[in-house]
Amino acid sequence: MKNKILKILFAYREDFISGEKLSEELGVSRTAIWKHINTLREEGYDIKSIPRGGYQLIKTPDILSQIEIQRDLNTQTLGKEIVHLSSLESTNNKAKDLALQGAPEGLVVISEEQTKGRGRRGRQWSSPRGTGIWMSILLRPNILPREAPKFTLLAAVAVAKGIREVTGLEAQIKWPNDILIHKKKICGILTEMSAELDSINYIIIGIGMNVNEREKDFPLEIQNKASSLALLKGEKVSRRELVTKILENLEEEYLKYIDKNEFHSVIDQWKNMSCTLGAQVKTINNKKEIKGIAVDIKEDGALIIQRDNGEIEEIFFGDVSIRGIDE
Ligand code: BTN
Repeated sequence: MKNKILKILFAYREDFISGEKLSEELGVSRTAIWKHINTLREEGYDIKSIPRGGYQLIKTPDILSQIEIQRDLNTQTLGKEIVHLSSLESTNNKAKDLALQGAPEGLVVISEEQTKGRGRRGRQWSSPRGTGIWMSILLRPNILPREAPKFTLLAAVAVAKGIREVTGLEAQIKWPNDILIHKKKICGILTEMSAELDSINYIIIGIGMNVNEREKDFPLEIQNKASSLALLKGEKVSRRELVTKILENLEEEYLKYIDKNEFHSVIDQWKNMSCTLGAQVKTINNKKEIKGIAVDIKEDGALIIQRDNGEIEEIFFGDVSIRGIDE
């Protein structure tokens, strides 16, 4: 009911709508309408009311609730169901629990803060309240498990493109799927999966993006490596618009890949937005150091490095450091 009232208030937001009209349209008493309006106010909606004039929506809060995200969302499956919570240990963990209970493909879990946000390779992920985007998307693709690394590339493309569309900032992808702007990390992606030998139960794409953090919001040890979109743009950035665009981009590339077997669009965009290809890189693989130029990326997500002596190496896991960015 609350969401239905909100939808009507939004449609009439240039104007006042009377409690009587709302109660007639929705078939509930005026007292019930008044109670829901008060709940909405507690959630941060600024709703003006005047005696005999009715209600007017003045301002929506900066929260990533289902109704706020779905307002402009143009997707078939992704984000049709959104679990939005004020606080969670980790949205990836919650998405995993819901996946095990049979949640459908396209489910999105978003939390305003995470108390045990997880990064790649067992690292922690700082996720303060209300400033960034901490969300996980559940997919159930009918593909072989060895194809799963493609989702790492797919997610990075959807996110980098979304940032560019919303902010105009030149987001770049660092292998495998960090998003950097002006050499600072803005977003990290943690893709996790559960699979049998020949089929995938689910894939969870966890996205952590620094949006409106100030410098002091970052833990000291990452202050020189990380930044937020607002710091780089010089103004507050809409988390809602970013989530919408990312879900739309993700679905577009996902459907191209799954329905039409067209993955080259992801590869092309990944290469175009990459700050890794062509750079001098260094990594550790099987305890040996590999140094050289990153020359290509393969469809399975592997990074191809050409050593100074011409030898070619394929890297599947790990971190690479890029000269000029990390050192
Ligand atoms: C990285 O190490 O770069 C990946 C960071 C991924 C963080 C996101 S925030 C939402 C989701 N939930 C988590 O616990 N982690 C991911």
